Amino acid sequence: MGRLSNRVAVITGGGSGIGRAVARLFSREGAKIVIADRSDQAVQVVDEIVGSGGQAVFVPCDVSREKDVQRLMSEAVAAFDTIDILIASAGIDQISPAHETSLDDWQKLIDINLTGVFLSNKYAIAHMLQQQNGAIVNISSILGQVGQPDITAYAAAKGGVSNLTRSIAVTYAKQGIRVNAVCPGYIETPLLKELTDEMVQVRVNKHPMGRMGRPEEVAQACLYLASDESSFVTGVNLFVDGGYTAQ
Ligand SMILES: NC(=O)c1ccc[n+]([C@@H]2O[C@H](COP(=O)([O-])OP(=O)(O)OC[C@H]3O[C@@H](n4cnc5c(N)ncnc54)[C@H](O)[C@@H]3O)[C@@H](O)[C@H]2O)c1
Repeated sequence: MGRLSNRVAVITGGGSGIGRAVARLFSREGAKIVIADRSDQAVQVVDEIVGSGGQAVFVPCDVSREKDVQRLMSEAVAAFDTIDILIASAGIDQISPAHETSLDDWQKLIDINLTGVFLSNKYAIAHMLQQQNGAIVNISSILGQVGQPDITAYAAAKGGVSNLTRSIAVTYAKQGIRVNAVCPGYIETPLLKELTDEMVQVRVNKHPMGRMGRPEEVAQACLYLASDESSFVTGVNLFVDGGYTAQ
C-alpha cells in the first residue's frame, strides 16, 4: 500500500519539470493521475506511468481558460470518480524589469501563474466540497517571498499564490479541505532554459547549499502535503530552497 493508495490526483503542468516529478512519485505511491497540460509532451508521462502499471490520463488544458479548467475537473471525475488531490504546478517564467514589461506580457503571466491557480483551486474545491475532503498544493516560489532584480510579474503572481493559498486554506478548513503551498528555490527544469551559464551561476551561489534543487526534491514535499501525514497542516508555505530564504 502506497502513501496515496487509490487517491485521485489532478496535476496541472504535469508534462514537465516539477509537475512531471510529482506525477511519477504519486503514481508510485498508488495514486491515479490526471495530468493537465497545454503541451502534448504530457502524453509521454502518461505512457510511462501506464507502462509501469499505474493509472493515468492526459487532459489537454490551458489553466488560464476557465472553460478548460472546468472541463478538466469534469473529465477527472469521469475518469476516476473523484478528485482527492490537486497539485497546481502549471506556470511560465518571465525575466523583465518593470519599466520594460509590456502590459500584454504582464497580463499573460498573471493569467497563467495566478489566475490559473485560482481557477484550478476553484473548480477542484467545487468537487472536494461534495466529499468534504481534499488536499491542494499550489506551487509558489521563493520569489513570492523575497525580491530579485528583474522579476516583476512573476514575483507578483507568486506572492499572490502564496497568500491566496492562506486565505483559501482558512475558508475551507472546517470542510476537510487542506490547502498549502510549496515554495521552491531554483530547480533544474526546462523553465530555466533561457538563463545563460552566468545567470545560472549567480543563482546557484545564492543558495546556501551551493546548488540548485531537483524536481524530485520538490515532489517529496508535495507528497507530504498531499498525504494524510500532514493531516493537521493547512495554510502553510513550505520552502524547499536549500536555505535560500533562511538568510
Ligand atoms: N524551476 C524552478 O526553478 C522553479 C522555482 C520555483 C517555482 N517554480 C514553479 O514551479 C512550477 C513548475 O515549473 P517547472 O520548473 O516544472 O517548469 P516546466 O516548464 O518544466 O513545467 C511547466 C509545465 O507547465 C505547463 N504549462 C505552462 N503554461 C500552461 C498553461 N497555461 N496551461 C497548462 N499548462 C501550462 C508547461 O507546458 C509545462 O509542462 C511553476 O509554477 C513554476 O513557476 C519553478
